[in-house]
Parts: sequence; C-alpha cells; structure tokens
Amino acid sequence: MIVPGTASQTLAARLAVRTDRDLAAVTVERFPDGEILAATPGFHGDSAVIVAATSSTEAHIELLQLQDAVREAGATDVTTVIPYLGYARQDEPHAPGHDAGDSPPGYPVSVRAMARAISTGTDRVLTVSPHEPSVMEHFEVPGTTISGTPALAEGLPTDLVDPLFVAPDGGARAMVEAVRDAYGRGTIDHFEKSRLGPETVEIEPSDADPDDRDVVVVDDIIATGGTASTAVERINEGGANRIYAACVHAVLAGGARTRLARAGVTELIATDTIERPASHVSVAPMLATALERQD
Ligand code: R5P
Repeated sequence: MIVPGTASQTLAARLAVRTDRDLAAVTVERFPDGEILAATPGFHGDSAVIVAATSSTEAHIELLQLQDAVREAGATDVTTVIPYLGYARQDEPHAPGHDAGDSPPGYPVSVRAMARAISTGTDRVLTVSPHEPSVMEHFEVPGTTISGTPALAEGLPTDLVDPLFVAPDGGARAMVEAVRDAYGRGTIDHFEKSRLGPETVEIEPSDADPDDRDVVVVDDIIATGGTASTAVERINEGGANRIYAACVHAVLAGGARTRLARAGVTELIATDTIERPASHVSVAPMLATALERQD
C-alpha cells in the first residue's frame, strides 16, 4: 500500500494510480500538549511505500510515526519516498554569522541527524533532487535519488521565443542544461551569485543578452525567493520578454511568492515534490519507474 504523509497527498495518490497499489488512509491528531499522532488504521499487507515530503518539522515526525505504524501493522518491507528532503541544505555544521565550514564546535550536521532517524524505520529511501547528492551517504539503508529537473520542461509554454535558460550560479548549470535539453532548444548561461545573508544575494550579470528573448531561471529550490528574484531583476534590466522561474522544490518561505511577482516573474513552474499552486509538473511518473525497478 501507498501511505501518504499529509504534505504529499496528491503525489501519493498519483503514485498509487501509476503503480496500481492501494492508497492507505492516514489520520493525524494532536494532543493538548502539542504532540501529533499520525496513524494508518486500515493499513494491511506486507509491503508499505510511505510518501512524505519532510517540508516541515511536523512532517518529519509524521514520517517517523508512519514508518513505525506500518511495522506495527505487520509490514515486512518498507520503502520511504521523500520527494523533498528537508534539512538537506544543513549538510555541514554552520553557525549563524560564520562562513560555511568555519563553525565552532557544537553545531550539528542536521541532515545526518534526520537521515539516521529515518533509517531506523525503513528498508530503503527514494528521494528527488536532494540539494547535495552526497547527503544520501548519511542514510544507513540503501538510498536512490532521481532528478526532478528535466520534468520542469513539461511545464513551460511550447512557444518560447529564442529561449535563454539561466542558472543563478555555476553549481546549478547542469540542472539548467537538463531543462534545456528536455525542452529541446535554447541556449544556457549562468550568473555568479554571492550570498550576503539568509534572504539576500548579489548576482553579477551574465554574458548572454536577454533582450527580446523569453528567459527561464532554473534552480533546485526556491526558498525565500531571494536568489530567483534577484536573478529575475537582473534579467529584466536586460530587456527580456517573458521570464519564467522554474524549480524542483517550491519551498516558498514567507513572502517568496510576492517577491517573485514584484521582481517580474511571468509564471512560477514547480514540481509536486512540495504541493503548491505552482506544482504544474509531477514527479510521479519518474518515482513510479524507480519503484518498479526495485520490485
Ligand atoms: C542554493 O545553493 C540553492 O540552489 C538555491 O539557490 C537556494 O537554496 C535558494 O534559496 P533562496 O530562495 O532562499 O534564495
């Protein structure tokens, strides 16, 4: 059976249809002290596929409880699908006010702590585009990753004019190339980004001229929107036509949507690893293929 976390109900339902598995009902209650209780009372069968983005602290707890609940109900084989792996950007000790890699003792590798906890209740993990692929090494069970980037091309209009696909930094260039290749035409370029604070970045203009072109800014995550909106502002200054922001994981913290709109984004295109109004593209087909491979 497919067992959905609260944050991944649409994706779990799509996956159930695609893999011809039953979809389990899940209940989530809250005790007076604030603790949550996630359960799957009707679960039956030997095999469980839990589908739960860990996009909030509660979603992490739910995931751990659901893993335990299916074991209690007799599951002998548990696969945990984590479409968005939260805390993946905390992949090294990072004290506020210190450069990455230069923290004093006493700071955690948060993603390692999360991965170890999840590993205790599952037989394998499947994730989509974790921020750094190396974070998968922290799981103590086999882990597989699929890339959600090429699917973003499906959400773009087919009539883009002389499209330019842009990465906010050199590290995202391979992702941009994957989207361009899946789209089938267009050129690629990348900016140089320096982070000034948690919500602010500085972006150096790129070489490519966006004048009179449709531009797609691609990133793995849009969180505060600081990176994407600053990139869009630079592109707007260059006289672009339509500007699309495309990301795998639409975290969209705080006022990110407004920030993107004010910067001049025509449309935000995201996958359903985090379920948002902008989730125009589904990773369900790719996840279904990965699950079938494992069967
Ligand atoms: C950074 O390396 C990531 O690829 C994203 O650019 C970053 O996480 C986006 O964060 P924000 O939307 O807060 O600028």
